[in-house]
Amino acid sequence: MARKLGVGLIGAHTWAEKAHLPGYAAHPGVTLAAVCDIDPARARAVADKYGAPAVYTDARDLLADPAVEMVDVCTPTDTHLPLSLAAIEAGRHVLCEKPLHTRAQPAFDAARRADEKGVRTKLGFTFRYSPAIRQIKAWVDDGTLGEIFHIHGFEQNSQFLDPDFPLRQFPVDSPRDRLIPSSIIGYGSHLVDLMRWIGGEFASVASTMKNFVPERTVRGLEGRQRFMVEDGAAAIVEFAGGAHGLLQSSYIAVGNYPGVEIRVYGSKGAAVARLITEYGVAESLHFATPEAVEFRKIEPAAGALPPGTTLSTPWPELYYRNLIRFFADEILENRPGECTFLDGARSQEIIDAIIRAHAERRWVTVGEAAA
Ligand SMILES: NC(=O)c1ccc[n+]([C@@H]2O[C@H](COP(=O)([O-])OP(=O)(O)OC[C@H]3O[C@@H](n4cnc5c(N)ncnc54)[C@H](O)[C@@H]3O)[C@@H](O)[C@H]2O)c1
Repeated sequence: MARKLGVGLIGAHTWAEKAHLPGYAAHPGVTLAAVCDIDPARARAVADKYGAPAVYTDARDLLADPAVEMVDVCTPTDTHLPLSLAAIEAGRHVLCEKPLHTRAQPAFDAARRADEKGVRTKLGFTFRYSPAIRQIKAWVDDGTLGEIFHIHGFEQNSQFLDPDFPLRQFPVDSPRDRLIPSSIIGYGSHLVDLMRWIGGEFASVASTMKNFVPERTVRGLEGRQRFMVEDGAAAIVEFAGGAHGLLQSSYIAVGNYPGVEIRVYGSKGAAVARLITEYGVAESLHFATPEAVEFRKIEPAAGALPPGTTLSTPWPELYYRNLIRFFADEILENRPGECTFLDGARSQEIIDAIIRAHAERRWVTVGEAAA
């Protein structure tokens, strides 16, 4: 029998259950070797449900388990970097939820360290694993869309339109007298990654960010609080290759999850992917050419969907099953990696530039924010 990749999961709760664990259960080449959570009941429940033989409450014990070859970090944001670095030092391949860190330099350092240790990395940029997005990427690469002129990226939904829906992952000691970049980090990092993957490196950006809902509840504090949380951002982009881009992230735009839309316009064709769950369908893809300008619907190519899924599979499971099958196959079959920690660091560097462009009301060259 072919060897199975032993996976150790750190952080066994909401997103792990919705997105990551179905991916391991579905992949014939993977076995869930260990589960760790600081909450022992959560770790035990997930281990029992998915048949993992080992249960830990301390990540160091999971990393010392010889059955664990690949580590999945699915914990809160502030733990991503230290747990990923510990996994790299232990010589384990790592999948980490995004962002790896809220600054670019530590993410670049982690990517370099992984290369030095010879381990694979993947960052949880969920939407790269949408069949529609992957089709657009293939059309850009094979020339179907021709020279690329415009790339538009949106992630907007009404998750935080209601001020009494608590904002998660929010440090309660954040300053109250200045804008706190938020949607541009949580949502914008996905968009930047998709636009960069499709259109190449960003050269420079200009942007505007705003707090639209002045008081809201945040996890960990009672009642509505006055924080200037950035709940909407817009940027214009000059790509190094010459294309122009538009990007918008919003917590308060009416519409369903995840609310991602990518539009690419080239000299030979245009493509629009909508990753918005509507009427039981997770996404759609439309395509037009200069000769046939009315956009027509394109069905996913054979093999684009993970085995056993359809476009009616809930999007977290659909995209993550694809992400996990790609990562497991990259490791098991020694294929080139994609969507690595280096991509996460580059995305973070662009987010830094977008934030600086707003703060200083000017165009910012990507990379200068780190200087
Ligand atoms: N890629 C995406 O589209 C996407 C979507 C949703 C969530 N996420 C990310 O997934 C991560 C997890 O989110 P969630 O909603 O499941 O959070 P959660 O709070 O529901 O679960 C996190 C779990 O990690 C455990 N934990 C915390 N610190 C730990 C440590 N040091 N060692 C072991 N366990 C630890 C907690 O006890 C908890 O059970 C977050 O970073 C979130 O931003 C990503």
